[in-house]
Amino acid sequence: MGFLEWARSPWGQNVPIHIAWFLIWVAIIAGLLFFIVHATYLRYFAKVKEFASSDSPLIAARIPERVPRHSLTARLFHWSMAASMFTLLFTAFLPKVGIRFDWVTYHWIAGAVLTCSILFHVIHASFFMDFWAIWPDKIDARDAQRRVLRFFGKAAPPPDRFAKYPLENKLYHGAIIATGLSAIVTGVFMMFRVRTIFFPRNPYLFSDMTWGMMYVLHGLAGVGLITLIMMHVYFGLRPEKRAITKSMIYGWMSRDFYLKEHDPTRWPVETSAGPERSHGANAEGLTDAG
Ligand code: HEM
Repeated sequence: MGFLEWARSPWGQNVPIHIAWFLIWVAIIAGLLFFIVHATYLRYFAKVKEFASSDSPLIAARIPERVPRHSLTARLFHWSMAASMFTLLFTAFLPKVGIRFDWVTYHWIAGAVLTCSILFHVIHASFFMDFWAIWPDKIDARDAQRRVLRFFGKAAPPPDRFAKYPLENKLYHGAIIATGLSAIVTGVFMMFRVRTIFFPRNPYLFSDMTWGMMYVLHGLAGVGLITLIMMHVYFGLRPEKRAITKSMIYGWMSRDFYLKEHDPTRWPVETSAGPERSHGANAEGLTDAG
């Protein structure tokens, strides 16, 4: 049983044509195993979350009751990307598991929507949002080490509260960039193999071997996305993450949740008096952030 399917080209060369479709089931089972392992860990092994310091009542009082988290533009991007991503997954994989329909047209249309929304997101995040908010920083690395030490019962100070995004979310975003861009770049080239409204069909653009590798990379990214999207939906539905999921619908999270999990020095909130910063608390973290 191989991981790839092969064919013989007109020139007698053995070329890969795509991944073996049993990998769809491997990806789904990996996602289900992740649910079981993570839920068991949380239920029986994880310790109660503890953070380094909390804010003075003065700072807490200046945080608005509803802390803005996602702008309307960011939410519209998120949900249009989610809709195109689910359409891509279902149109790609349902026919491979026996549900036959004319999938290719729906698939490349959803692919074009995803490509445009990602282009928009890159511009929006680079020039209109805090670009660095989603990348791990020194405090994340230091706190990850502290969390691991504390889990194993070793002496270590408690970690700081999170900036806008916890380290896990930042790492997930990185994994989605790698798999998502692989699917998009290969998918754009693969549109030359079918009839679309964008450019004339040209199946001779690449050699059979290059096309084969491209289909393999597209398929691998696709099955990887099955597992990643399953994990994302699982976290979105978990009760302790509900405040975050709701903020992707309504745009804000409650002051209580913000102060419990987020550090106003690392993620200052816009108040009527300008960005709110806590003074004194977590000064060490502020220095580390540079
Ligand atoms: C969630 C993301 C995606 C998944 C899971 C996915 C999955 C797949 C799979 C499994 C195939 C069948 C390939 C084969 O037979 O080896 C396929 C074909 C195709 N994909 Fe995607 N894809 C995704 C994103 C995209 C994007 C973003 C585009 C376009 C920009 C795209 C364009 C295409 C095209 C044109 C084909 C048809 C190729 C052909 O029939 O010759 N895909 N996709």
